[in-house]
Amino acid sequence: METAITSPVAHRQAAPLFSRLRTAAGQADPFPIYRQLRAMGEVVAAPWGGHVVTSYDLCDRVLRNRQDFLEPDSGWRARQGEATRWTAASSREIGRTLPALNGEKHTRARRSAGGMFDRSTLETLLGPVSSITERLLDKLAERLAGGEADLHAVVSEELPVATIGHWFRLPPADFALLRDLTHKMAFPQELLPSASQLAEADEAVMMLQVYFRELVADRRRQPGDDPVSHWLATWDRIEPSREAADENAYDLALIVLLGALETTAALLSQLVLRLLEHPDQWDWLTHHPEDVPGAVEEALRYDPAIHVATRVARADTEIAGVAVRADDLVHLMVAAANRDPGRYDDPDTFTLHRQMPAHLSFGSGIHYCLGAPLARFEAQTLLRGLLQRFPRLTLARRPQWHPRVVFRRPRNLHVALF
Ligand code: HEM
Repeated sequence: METAITSPVAHRQAAPLFSRLRTAAGQADPFPIYRQLRAMGEVVAAPWGGHVVTSYDLCDRVLRNRQDFLEPDSGWRARQGEATRWTAASSREIGRTLPALNGEKHTRARRSAGGMFDRSTLETLLGPVSSITERLLDKLAERLAGGEADLHAVVSEELPVATIGHWFRLPPADFALLRDLTHKMAFPQELLPSASQLAEADEAVMMLQVYFRELVADRRRQPGDDPVSHWLATWDRIEPSREAADENAYDLALIVLLGALETTAALLSQLVLRLLEHPDQWDWLTHHPEDVPGAVEEALRYDPAIHVATRVARADTEIAGVAVRADDLVHLMVAAANRDPGRYDDPDTFTLHRQMPAHLSFGSGIHYCLGAPLARFEAQTLLRGLLQRFPRLTLARRPQWHPRVVFRRPRNLHVALF
């Protein structure tokens, strides 16, 4: 039976909900706001234009549908006119990279990345990630000896950058700068960044361009056993122009850094937070370390590091009977989808014993996160270390959050020993 096509419902209530989402208070618990959005329908008109999708099935279907829905690529960005979030220098730079490519360009670039974190790469990272984690837990122990410690600052913000830095063979002295620049680069990927946030991101991207172009030139001069040297070798085989090969390796290095740091840091703190909110589950894990991978999956489902994935319509189409025009934005609220009662029993309960753990936190379809195995590996390593060394860890107070919507970012996570 054909479904009737309707215009998207513009809900007067949707605008205040999004305003609340974009505050620190909204970020402290965005899920009641998602419930209110879902109550308005599976597809709601976004106050800034475009559509917001909240159900699991529809989000999954759009993410997998590469015929009708595309990434906002450089062509689409150029059609949005000057001085928008899509045409800022930082946004255009992201528009060159893997998660903003479509069709053949995406296939080629994704292939060049290879099995980024296949079993053998993860095996080489096992020792380094374990020793970085131990070192950070030593620091945490020192702080805890004096009372409270901010686990987010001491551990979560450090482990991802130290891991990627080690893998890329970067000097540790650069880590703090790279982390800071990455935080600023989240702004053009937010729903409604301010002009000053975009200016900060534009400044950050200039520094990142210099940094990663120098890195690529350096690996050209002195290739080694590191990912950038390997990507250069791959591109030299498939790309006749050396300059184009360098640019492709640069794009990949940039997006790996941007994709890996803030996201993984948010996952690490979020994982610890949810378990400390449920001391019985923390206790359970101290005796059942075999359930650590399941705990990481549930933390990913419960509150993912990226709450929204965005696509644009290739041509006029519809989603669940709602008309979508060519070039319209479609925001897939994966964090809301992960709590869809149509998909999960008791979705707002955090539990280690869930029967259906699959979630959309790493996306779905051809843009599925390339770094998922590494993010999981870091989270599992950290959790095992914490359970072993600090079985009496407790939450000192509620964390605070940056006012974001797309990229979750805790400001702190104060813990103590009881
Ligand atoms: C908890 C941590 C992470 C989360 C929640 C996450 C989430 C995501 C999501 C949702 C996407 C798909 C975006 C879309 O469909 O538009 C994605 C893509 C991607 N992620 Fe991650 N990510 C994480 C960690 C990482 C890490 C550690 C790396 C690299 C080391 C990484 C690299 C990438 C790349 C390169 C893509 C683009 C893939 C493509 O477009 O083909 N991510 N990630």
